[in-house]
Amino acid sequence: MRTEWQELLEAVIAQIEELRGQGVTCVNVSPETLEALVVARPLASLRDEKPQPAAPESRSIPLHEPQGGARSPSSPDSPATRDSRSRQDSHPPRGGVPGPEAHDPNMEHQFTSPPALEQGAKSTALAALREQAMTCQKCPHLARSRKSVVFGVGDINAALMFVGEAPGADEDAQGEPFVGAAGQLLTRMIGAMGFTRETVYIANILKCRPDTPGQASGNRKPTSDEMRTCLPYLLAQIELIQPKVIVALGATALEGLLGLTESIGRLRGRFQVFRGVPVMPTYHPSYLLRSEARSVKRLVWEDMLQVLEKLNVPITEKQRSYFLRGA
Ligand code: URA
Repeated sequence: MRTEWQELLEAVIAQIEELRGQGVTCVNVSPETLEALVVARPLASLRDEKPQPAAPESRSIPLHEPQGGARSPSSPDSPATRDSRSRQDSHPPRGGVPGPEAHDPNMEHQFTSPPALEQGAKSTALAALREQAMTCQKCPHLARSRKSVVFGVGDINAALMFVGEAPGADEDAQGEPFVGAAGQLLTRMIGAMGFTRETVYIANILKCRPDTPGQASGNRKPTSDEMRTCLPYLLAQIELIQPKVIVALGATALEGLLGLTESIGRLRGRFQVFRGVPVMPTYHPSYLLRSEARSVKRLVWEDMLQVLEKLNVPITEKQRSYFLRGA
């Protein structure tokens, strides 16, 4: 019987053959993927093992002998090559997204994304990844306590990705991220930006709800170990989806993604860069629910306007003046 892993492997081989047929001589592979390829069990390693520290840089894997100096189409990504990647057009307009800020302190996170996968291979790879996550036992305490694994939801070709902290009780019950009170606020925010939940992608650092032994309700922050253990799923999602902008919702999302522990109040509103993708840190919607202050909502909205600008999405007058009316 063919396993999902075999199907995924065949899809990857087909993609490589196609590239080779187009004259591509090498592909760029992220350190994690390279490591996984070396042990010849990429997604299996997500199931059974704790992630190893990433190698410092991405590599090019030759598809066949390089020929006379021609620049590979998959050589390091410039903004132009990122924009010209073949991607199925999704709802948010995609224009040229400016490259990562040259002065950004997180430039060490810069890496070369692999070429976008062909649609079939991409959805096959994401489906296989989801299957791996669904049966994940890497955090036995969370595997025991969870009702669902909350993988992610939305358009796998989305230009815009939201990353939260971890599922809460509602998400755990429904198997979908951001469906509780904070999620409903996020959904309204996405709507105000001109998108829907179906046209963006939403995921969390942790795919399981952090357990709260002895407590009937409430949430707790994921531990560093849990975040480190679960992160490869999110990294693979980002690598496959290749969003143009990521919004990190709250301090924990930012810590999980970029290792930044400065306060979100300081970091919000300033683009960071994660593996070549601009990341906008902003307050978590649950903070907005707790804070009555209109000024805090206004700050988050300003962050979202920056995101729209980064995506080259036209901003209406109405959008510009949200929170200004009667302020
Ligand atoms: N908070 C999060 O960070 N993620 C969810 O999915 C729900 C609430």
